[in-house]
Amino acid sequence: MKKQKKLEQKEAKKRMRQISKENSKVIKKFEKEKKRKKVDPSEYQTTMKNPENIIEIDNLQTFFFTDMGTVKSVNGVTLEIPKGKTVALVGESGCGKSVTSLSMMKLVQGPTGQIVGGEIRYNRKGGPVDIVKTPISEMQHIRGNEIAMIFQEPMTSLNPIFKIGYQIDETIALHRPDMSKEDIKKQTIEMLKLVGIARAEGIYDSYPHELSGGMRQRVMIAMSLCCDPQFIIADEPTTALDVTIQAQILDLLRDIKDKIDASILLITHDLGVVAEMADYVVVMYAGKIVEQGTAHEVFLNPKHPYTMGLIKSKPAVGKTVDRLYSIPGAVPNPVQMPTHCFFKDRCDKCIEKCKGDIPGLRIIDENHKVACHLYDVKEGK
Ligand SMILES: Nc1ncnc2c1ncn2[C@@H]1O[C@H](COP(=O)(O)OP(=O)(O)OP(=O)(O)O)[C@@H](O)[C@H]1O
Ligand code: SF4
Ligand SMILES: [Mg+2]
Repeated sequence: MKKQKKLEQKEAKKRMRQISKENSKVIKKFEKEKKRKKVDPSEYQTTMKNPENIIEIDNLQTFFFTDMGTVKSVNGVTLEIPKGKTVALVGESGCGKSVTSLSMMKLVQGPTGQIVGGEIRYNRKGGPVDIVKTPISEMQHIRGNEIAMIFQEPMTSLNPIFKIGYQIDETIALHRPDMSKEDIKKQTIEMLKLVGIARAEGIYDSYPHELSGGMRQRVMIAMSLCCDPQFIIADEPTTALDVTIQAQILDLLRDIKDKIDASILLITHDLGVVAEMADYVVVMYAGKIVEQGTAHEVFLNPKHPYTMGLIKSKPAVGKTVDRLYSIPGAVPNPVQMPTHCFFKDRCDKCIEKCKGDIPGLRIIDENHKVACHLYDVKEGK
């Protein structure tokens, strides 16, 4: 018995070494590509399918090459974000929401994490570019300046040893080297006021630890807005806050979006937030999109059994239940994804066909798509 176990361990180690060797080869290729200097803009310039979109993601694949195997965190995601609209990306923990958003900024944790395929077309003012092909040197102009990101935990993005004012000043100075110190300070105070901080001058001279969680999130939002972004990615911006502050921050985001006429990608697992904020909803499951449409359509008329489960598991006001519904089972092992629908083992609507191939997105109508065999068009129809 002991001998058998030792043999198995030896085998596993050998397999890991083999994977690691193969991984380094693949990673080397992608890293080389990423670090290229003097890339001609024509190599990453592109055209939007619809000029009314700010972002168009096409078949994005972002993988992590780990010693245990390849984790296909984003596995063929296609979505679009119209100008001036809010799109919510929802799904349970680990389904690939953050990795999708980090891919859009080209901030996926390397060297193991790499964008291995697809396009991310960004409708830049000077002409559309494909972010996947854009070199890091150019991304530095896009990040913060044109696309801003608001993270879940503001303390991880604020430096505890510098005063709030100094940190926002620095951000503005970096993006606007032409501005004088006095003008920068004026703008910082203005930004703090814009995000609803009443005692802006006092907060300017405070350290992050002197502020409450809600205030810190407001500061983070001010910081991300100080360069007039046209697109904001908010990754669980209210998860770390209590309910009343959550509502205030959401109001603030909505307010600001209208003031600066930006588009927002709102990542959340809170369907209440989605209903309140989003124009469109994209539902992700295990690295793939399973349903997308207008918030109205997806909420009122969910088609995918997973979306139905998500909506069922949301507490409803005025409805008393003994226990909240939870979707049974767990997400499949990320390094060994099945060859059939990823939701099959948890689905209560499974049909014979579900044992077959992975369903692609089917069009329900112009505003609604779903990846499920239940909606396959019957032959002869
Ligand atoms: N640095 C990493 N190395 C290996 N795997 C990773 C890494 N970062 C993310 N992953 C994997 O990618 C998958 C997607 O992760 P991601 O962070 O995008 O999930 P998420 O939908 O944002 O979840 P949450 O709601 O918990 O934030 C997960 O299976 C995760 O384990
Ligand atoms: S394809 Fe089948 S298993 Fe997958 S969600 Fe639809 S009904 Fe369920
Ligand atoms: Mg996340």
